[in-house]
Amino acid sequence: MLPTSISPVFRSRRDCLMAGHAGSAFVLASNHELIRNYDVSYPFRQDSSLYYLTAWDEADSFLVLLPSAEHAGRNYKMILFVPPRDPEREMWDGERHGVEGAVSVYGADEAYPTSEFAKRLPILLKGVEKVFYRMGMPHHERTDRTMLEVFEQTRKLFGRSGRGIPALHDPLEVIGEMRLYKGPEEIETLRKACAMTAHAHRQAMIEARPGMNERDIEAIVEYQFRRGGSQRNGYWSIVAAGRNATCLHYRSNNDTLREGELLLIDAGAEFDYYTSDITRTFPVGRKYSPAQAKVYDLVLKSQLEALAMAKPGATLPSIHAHVVETLVDGFLSLGLLQGKPAEVIQTNAFKRFYPHNTSHWLGSDVHDAGLYQKNGEPRRLEPGMVFTIEPGFYVQPLDRDAPAEYRDIGIRIEDDILITKTGCENMTAGVPKTREEIEALRAF
Ligand code: GLY
Ligand code: MN
Ligand code: MN
Repeated sequence: MLPTSISPVFRSRRDCLMAGHAGSAFVLASNHELIRNYDVSYPFRQDSSLYYLTAWDEADSFLVLLPSAEHAGRNYKMILFVPPRDPEREMWDGERHGVEGAVSVYGADEAYPTSEFAKRLPILLKGVEKVFYRMGMPHHERTDRTMLEVFEQTRKLFGRSGRGIPALHDPLEVIGEMRLYKGPEEIETLRKACAMTAHAHRQAMIEARPGMNERDIEAIVEYQFRRGGSQRNGYWSIVAAGRNATCLHYRSNNDTLREGELLLIDAGAEFDYYTSDITRTFPVGRKYSPAQAKVYDLVLKSQLEALAMAKPGATLPSIHAHVVETLVDGFLSLGLLQGKPAEVIQTNAFKRFYPHNTSHWLGSDVHDAGLYQKNGEPRRLEPGMVFTIEPGFYVQPLDRDAPAEYRDIGIRIEDDILITKTGCENMTAGVPKTREEIEALRAF
């Protein structure tokens, strides 16, 4: 069933965007249906910024926001180009809103079939001085060409006036700036995504057994996502046993779980266009081995210290720097590295075991939009920002110089953090992460 009404929050986002950019036009392309093989498509998922501004979730569409004379209390017009109603296509692929629904349900001032986009856009953009359009995105070559043709026509219209084409800007920066500060309804949705993801990780911790396949665990986790109401994953689940966990973006998920190894699960449910991003690492058997326990406790220590730093005014680089210091102290005392801490940090020698960053923004995209710097400085954390804290430890299979007891270990612990007025809320605190709590769940 198609929605018959949408939350007024989408219009208020457009109002806010256009209030800050009077005189500018925004052109946002939807995602396309992409072929996976022959006539089978990948599941469609709307572009996050287009969804953020409209709630529109059909493919082959465009949103155009244009400066206009004041009407209905605003200084802009919203135009949607959408696939028109088509009984034959809808019989095969499902119901569409069509141009009628784009106006009556989604609040467009005008709507046209997508086939009219290239013809109408030059007229719509006439006289606009600044156009926000994201050039150079994969699969959008045709729209890029249309935009270039629009600029070409604009220049022709100017005649011999000496005027140039409108300035072109990337909309993701300004929309990303809005998306970075999560509103109450976004936080509510993120909390739900986090709760169902936390439950799924906990269930995997209870059900995993030696001899199972990584694929079995993926099925347990994703079954719980769907049962919780998640429409799809925020990203492909990583279910990595033993040395597979040292591959940061491991995707095969098709190996046997062996007693004595660790199992790393990095998986997040997407719910109503917001995703969680949780990682836990627990023993395939009942307990962590002594060597696994030492490095696990070290990663956990660095993660808990990072969590304690998460409050308004802190920065992600300062949190990362602290995580690196804690990990480096541990690497040195466990004999994994030699030298002085400052030297190991300065030369990046620690990256042998901790090659990635500690945090990224989280929201509609797992690596969400939003600038990491402001005026050349790392930006200060503020209430409403959501990000991950995810330190890890990995000994690459080719690293045969590492002490034998630590070889092939991969560990990551990842939670989703909301900055509040007074500190932070760990939105994924519901999944056990101390060894004691985890081993209690592994007592089969
Ligand atoms: N799951 C992707 C990440 O942790 O960044
Ligand atoms: Mn992450
Ligand atoms: Mn992750």
